[in-house]
Amino acid sequence: MTRPVRKQPSQLRSARWFAPDDLRSFGHRSRLMQLGYSPEEFMDRPLIGILNTWSEINSCHSHFRERAKDVKRGIQMAGGFAVEMPSLSVDESFTKPTSMLYRNMLAMEVEEMIRAHPFDGVVLMGGCDKTTPGLVMGAITAGVPMIYLPAGPMLRGNYRGQHLGSGSDAWKYWDERRAGNIDEKEWEGLQGGIARSAGVCMTMGTASTMTAITDAMGLTLPGASSIPAVDSGHQRMSADCGRRIVAMVWEDLTPDRIVTEASVRNAAIVAMATGCSTNAVVHLVAMARRAGVELSLDTLDELGRETPLIANVRPSGTDYLMEDFHYAGGLRALMAQLRERLDLSCLTVTGQTIGENLEGAKVWNDDVIRPLSNPVYKEGSLAVLRGNLCPDGAVIKPAACDPKYHVHEGPALVFDSYPEMKAAIDDENLEVTPDHVLVLRNAGPLGGPGFPEWGMLPIPRALIRQGYRDMLRISDARMSGTSYGACVLHVAPEAYVGGPLALLETGDRVRLDLPSRRLDMLVDEAEITRRRREWKAPKPRFERGWGWMFSKHVTQADTGCDFDFLQHDFGRAAGEPDIF
Ligand code: FES
Repeated sequence: MTRPVRKQPSQLRSARWFAPDDLRSFGHRSRLMQLGYSPEEFMDRPLIGILNTWSEINSCHSHFRERAKDVKRGIQMAGGFAVEMPSLSVDESFTKPTSMLYRNMLAMEVEEMIRAHPFDGVVLMGGCDKTTPGLVMGAITAGVPMIYLPAGPMLRGNYRGQHLGSGSDAWKYWDERRAGNIDEKEWEGLQGGIARSAGVCMTMGTASTMTAITDAMGLTLPGASSIPAVDSGHQRMSADCGRRIVAMVWEDLTPDRIVTEASVRNAAIVAMATGCSTNAVVHLVAMARRAGVELSLDTLDELGRETPLIANVRPSGTDYLMEDFHYAGGLRALMAQLRERLDLSCLTVTGQTIGENLEGAKVWNDDVIRPLSNPVYKEGSLAVLRGNLCPDGAVIKPAACDPKYHVHEGPALVFDSYPEMKAAIDDENLEVTPDHVLVLRNAGPLGGPGFPEWGMLPIPRALIRQGYRDMLRISDARMSGTSYGACVLHVAPEAYVGGPLALLETGDRVRLDLPSRRLDMLVDEAEITRRRREWKAPKPRFERGWGWMFSKHVTQADTGCDFDFLQHDFGRAAGEPDIF
């Protein structure tokens, strides 16, 4: 393939800050000298921003302080000038009401800080769920060369010699604790063993799904997404990111050449083959739209139907975790299995195509990364439903739920809020049967607020005691990528803005028909119309601050929950103001 001509130093973006013989540039140069740098260190060299989402309260990124040094080493080796800058560390574990409220804040910060500073290229350091889409969305719009450095999964959890998976085992053992099968001592043991090193959740949850998507899209070094966070290979990959971004600047390899309709499709296929988190839908749609690529829910459903799930990693797979996936060959090996389904001509951050990057990739354990002829599931990572309850779509992860719920009809048990549900769910006298359909509404992008991960509604204690561990659940919320069960999520439009879910009443019959991709309330049209007339919009949740801005501008789940004014057309129209 044709390689671009190497840029001249005078063409560097940073030259606008440092090269002119004027007062402003004098100020820029003198302030770098104030920091102890000589002009030889920064003049005529690519200035690389290392955007680091490290924070002391982000346990998934606790190794990033050290890794930033490795990136810097690589940048300097390649003749660049490195500057580390903090970026909003949206952590999944501690942020209330939900980290999703802040994904767009990170995306805005990244876009604006890249634009405002003399960066010729950036290394994006992220991994914990929302940091990947947030960093990538902002950097796609900013448009300078960028490379994504994924945090990598933490080591497998361990308790009494038994492997534990992030999230998935927490949900599983919590149900056992609620059933009275686990005492305090055992619970504490599980607590200490489930997260035992730096790195992101080590199931194929949202974090590993999103880093895999970014890898498949060509935005990371090939196969970087699954390297365990504490493996020395992760340090070497970090230094390689530093080396490579300097070359990308000289080659003017910008994200618009990498993120295309074909590379987005590749990423979606890979997501399906990994048994992706349902959150992938919202984030991938939003990332693609930043590049001007429309990815519809129907396309995702189609890919979900035709792509076999071949990564045998929990929660969709059995037994294995991300560490096993990496040792089995990682994402390159998985993509090599999918060769015929991918567009191998897509360009990547290496300056080579996906096809070139996959040369020599091999599977070392074909029970973890299965051949297409022996998938974990023939299809079913993701399905998109339509019907009178979700005219703009809803998603379900068929591979992660008991097949007996694929076609199910039962009476609805509706909760209007999370506190209402929480108060009722452990009531031994709650009138509920295994056939009931649990519904939590007002938990979407505006209603949550911020689209929280409440969609894996707890099974009522009364049913837990009878041995039930799954039932049909419906919500306009999301669920964690480490969750599982017969959960219909992302119902759009959400109840809070008057979507049909707002009109459902306890006792109405609800029918899910997964093979036909339908989700309906079996209520006649006249009654629905009557209820719609009586529905009253709730009061806005915020009157000031970020929440107010979020509520004014966030889009619904089916279009990625980006802000309306940040989507592609707005980005292009605004461009980079040439006024400074
Ligand atoms: Fe950070 Fe799961 S909590 S990736």
